Amino acid sequence: GVTPKIAPSMLSSDFANLASEAKRMLDFVADWLHMDIMDGHFVPNLTIGAPVIESLRKHTKAFLDCHLMVTNPIDYVEPLGKAGASGFTFHVEENWHELIQKIKSKAMRPGVALKPGTLIEEVYPLVDSENPVEMVLVMTVEPGFGGQKFMPQMMDKVRVLRKKYPSLDIEVDGGLGPSTIEMAASAGANCIVAGSSKFGAAEPGTVIYPICETVFW
Ligand code: DX5
Ligand code: ZN
Repeated sequence: GVTPKIAPSMLSSDFANLASEAKRMLDFVADWLHMDIMDGHFVPNLTIGAPVIESLRKHTKAFLDCHLMVTNPIDYVEPLGKAGASGFTFHVEENWHELIQKIKSKAMRPGVALKPGTLIEEVYPLVDSENPVEMVLVMTVEPGFGGQKFMPQMMDKVRVLRKKYPSLDIEVDGGLGPSTIEMAASAGANCIVAGSSKFGAAEPGTVIYPICETVFW
C-alpha cells in the first residue's frame, strides 16, 4: 500500500496572492505544489514562467513540481533551475535524452508527460534509459486548462505503467477530486494533482484528508 502524494495545482489559485495561496495549501497537508507552465503556443493558454517560480521560491521550501506545456522545453531548463524549481516534467519529444541530462545537471528531477492522445509505448525508452526520467505524468484531460472533466479511459495507461514499473512515480493530472481520486489511486497513481477541486472547496482540508487516509494497491 502507498499513500499518494497530493500536489495542488496552483493554476487554480489566486495568482495575485500566490505566496499565501501556496501556504494555505501546504497547511492542508500538500506534499508538492504543482506549477503549470504554459506558453500560449504548445497549449492555447499562457500562465507563468521562471520569474514567478523564483518569486514563489522565496516564500516556501516546498517541492515545486513544474509541468512544462511549452514548445522547446529545453530553453526553460536553465532559467527554471536557477529559479529554484524542483521537478521538471516535459511532454514526450524527440530530444529527450539531452533534455533529461540537462535537467539533472541543474539538480532538478526529470519527468515525462503524456497527453491523452499519446501512447504509453512512447515513454518506455525514457524510463528504461540508463539516464531515466523519475516520473511519468499521465494527463487525464487535454492540457491547457483547469476545471475539465476527468477521462477514466486514461486509467488503462496508469495500470499498464504500474504493472511494468512497480516503484516508478506515476502522476495523474486533470479532473481529480473526491469522486475520481479512488479510481486513479487504485489504478496505481501515487502522485495526485488537484486544482479546481482543492481551490474550489470551502475547506480544502476536507477534500484532502479523505484522500490522504486512503491507501491503495
Ligand atoms: C491542465 C493542467 C492541470 C490543471 C488541473 O493543463 O496541467 O494541472 O491545473 O486542474 P484541475 O484539477 O482543475 O483539472
Ligand atoms: Zn499540470
